[in-house]
Amino acid sequence: MFIAAHEWFAPVLEESTVNANTLAELYKGLSEDFESEELKHKARLFLESEIAKLDASACDLPAQAHELEDWMQTSSQPATSRYGQYLEERKAGSPRRYFSNRAHALYFLRAVAPTKLVDGAWVYGLLNHWRNPRFADLIRTYFEELGEGSNDKNHVLIYRQLLTRYGLDPVDDLAESFYTQGLIQLALAGHAEEYLPEVIGFNLGYEQLPLHLLITAYELNELGIDPYYFTLHVTVDNANTGHARRAVQAVLDNIPKLGSADEFWRRVRIGYGLSNAGVGTTDVIDGFNIDREVVRIFAHKSEAGHGAHSDYCRVGGRNVNDWLARKEDIPEFLSALEKARWIKRGVPVEQSRFWGLLQGSRAEMFGVFTSYELQVIHDWILGDASRDGHSYAEIDSANSVPRRASFRVAARLAATRSGMSLDLHTQSPSTSMLDSDLQSLTQQLPTLDAADQASILVKAMAPSQHWTPAGLHATKLFGRLFFSGA
Ligand SMILES: [Fe+2]
Repeated sequence: MFIAAHEWFAPVLEESTVNANTLAELYKGLSEDFESEELKHKARLFLESEIAKLDASACDLPAQAHELEDWMQTSSQPATSRYGQYLEERKAGSPRRYFSNRAHALYFLRAVAPTKLVDGAWVYGLLNHWRNPRFADLIRTYFEELGEGSNDKNHVLIYRQLLTRYGLDPVDDLAESFYTQGLIQLALAGHAEEYLPEVIGFNLGYEQLPLHLLITAYELNELGIDPYYFTLHVTVDNANTGHARRAVQAVLDNIPKLGSADEFWRRVRIGYGLSNAGVGTTDVIDGFNIDREVVRIFAHKSEAGHGAHSDYCRVGGRNVNDWLARKEDIPEFLSALEKARWIKRGVPVEQSRFWGLLQGSRAEMFGVFTSYELQVIHDWILGDASRDGHSYAEIDSANSVPRRASFRVAARLAATRSGMSLDLHTQSPSTSMLDSDLQSLTQQLPTLDAADQASILVKAMAPSQHWTPAGLHATKLFGRLFFSGA
């Protein structure tokens, strides 16, 4: 669902000097400058608008906070037992439940990127209060979301690398609704003091193990796509010792002893509701329509491609520049390409002259489309046969397609062939890495007193920068401070 800017920005538009009048712009603004008071103010208005939309009767939390532990144990069981049923169905020959083809899976990874790229942000606002023992579980959760300062464990960095590896960046031209969940997380990060019960409730909801995480990891691996980001969360969000358990403990530790416990619990429930706001995982997956995605890709590309073709490039009686001049004409342009037999749907892509422009030894449009966009076009042309999940890049020169291997099998084979160790996620971090912020941090720290040292570390661990070399270094130093109890 598209949320028009005027619906919730109206009160601040006139006084605004920051260009952030859509959810995407506000999200990007905060992702780059988390210190901006004006952006944080806008994020707070947005948060309030999301709270106003919540339906309290839809909350499945128990009536009383002390029933939480039982609730967690019983609510995590259905996810694992339903996953068992899923595996049985797959063994019996059922098709993938989520991803119809490789393009579908990559679409999902791109659409949820605004959420995944701020993973853990909702807890950030409590970091300045790390000495409060009641926040110990929450601070530790944030520290672990940041991979304890290791670049091969920092959740946001892992996702950034996933986007790069599969050609899914830049993450642009997404529907506004895909920014809702990430913006809620950034808004909570910026206003933790005013929304403490909501932060704790959000954490409770977000850190429970959902069925979709298990199925997503399974099907990504099956399609040869690295599932590590998702398998990592299956292990860290467990109900026994992981983030889910700590999230329950954080609620119990923070129930007021002097103030109103009922009011606290009411607001925890609001925060819990916020963790499910926006477009959910299965909604994103169900929302994939390959015809619509192809049109979107061509329309987006037409902004640069319009005017770049020569006059003799004609399709259906119109030259290509003319077709690309108006986005509304793109569906008709694609039909014209089919009618002129430039595109032959339902057969291998090598039989389409248009594909020959994109890939191969004489591809005049080589490099115009990202590898994600090529996969969508490939699967769209191929049609039902794309359900085999092959990458367009796997087609060899003899036009034969090898049997598709799961990600883990392919990784093992590659490691065996190269004689290298298997760990694909290990890169050695280095404090000598060339990075201006890292240099600045290491130069400033010895000149500061203990309180200022802690605050510069916290600043470097903000959602906008904890994944950078300076942020990772700061996270490690913060860990020493936190666990030493100094
Ligand atoms: Fe995470």
